[in-house]
Amino acid sequence: MSKDKPIGIFDSGVGGTSIWKEIHHLLPLEHTIYLADSANAPYGEKPPEEIVRLSVKNTRKLLEMGAKIIVVACNTATTNAITHLRSSYNVPFIGIEPAIKPAALQSETKCIGILATKGTLSSALFARTSDLYSKDNKIIEVVGKGLVEEIEKGQKDSSFLKKMLEELLDPMIKAGIDHLVLGCSHYPYLIPTLEKILPAHVKIIDSGMAVAKQTKVVLQGLDLLTGNQQHLPEFFTNGSPEILKNIIPAPAGSFKVNHLDF
Ligand code: DGL
Repeated sequence: MSKDKPIGIFDSGVGGTSIWKEIHHLLPLEHTIYLADSANAPYGEKPPEEIVRLSVKNTRKLLEMGAKIIVVACNTATTNAITHLRSSYNVPFIGIEPAIKPAALQSETKCIGILATKGTLSSALFARTSDLYSKDNKIIEVVGKGLVEEIEKGQKDSSFLKKMLEELLDPMIKAGIDHLVLGCSHYPYLIPTLEKILPAHVKIIDSGMAVAKQTKVVLQGLDLLTGNQQHLPEFFTNGSPEILKNIIPAPAGSFKVNHLDF
């Protein structure tokens, strides 16, 4: 495998660009390609077999494009499909899961909130981690119903979405959480709104930086880091290039966005 091959990243849609940002920041010399499967978003309400099927489809496309490693920048796809992917393809996979551990260890009220999709919260992988920490902590799980749909429409700052969040967070605030774990890669884009709703002492935790660090460690271990990359980051979507372009957290002109059927 050549070091100069790209890092492949996929998500059910535009949300995984929040993870891409951390990877690009930590590894600016790496060529990154990103697949947004927006035509099939949201994954969160789909049955596990369907999430596996879509994850396989995205993986195949990234391998066809020459990816040397695949980052599953989607909690729902990771918790439902990464075991299958790892046993089916001979390429390293990095996944993302809700960061329960740091939240549980740092919590003083011993009460933490997890906002994630139905697919993530009902997965066996999530249940295993959650069980580990639920003895010493009250864990309040809430399905972020409807949130991904709004973000996919490019409506991450709307008053409608703020109202949805107020309702979703209400039981967590009443229970006295001091940490909120964002268990979906779309949700970091809601942080400005979340900060308006949550009491000031509630810390918001997401896993983006941890995923970027793990990607670096794995590439380093396999001697696959490149120091010589000339390509602009490339983003492909089977949905709206305009919506994707508007959400990518990087200056216009520093990346390319294309429509692609996959
Ligand atoms: N970004 C995906 C995740 O992290 C969103 C899930 C969805 O498409 O419902 O879970």
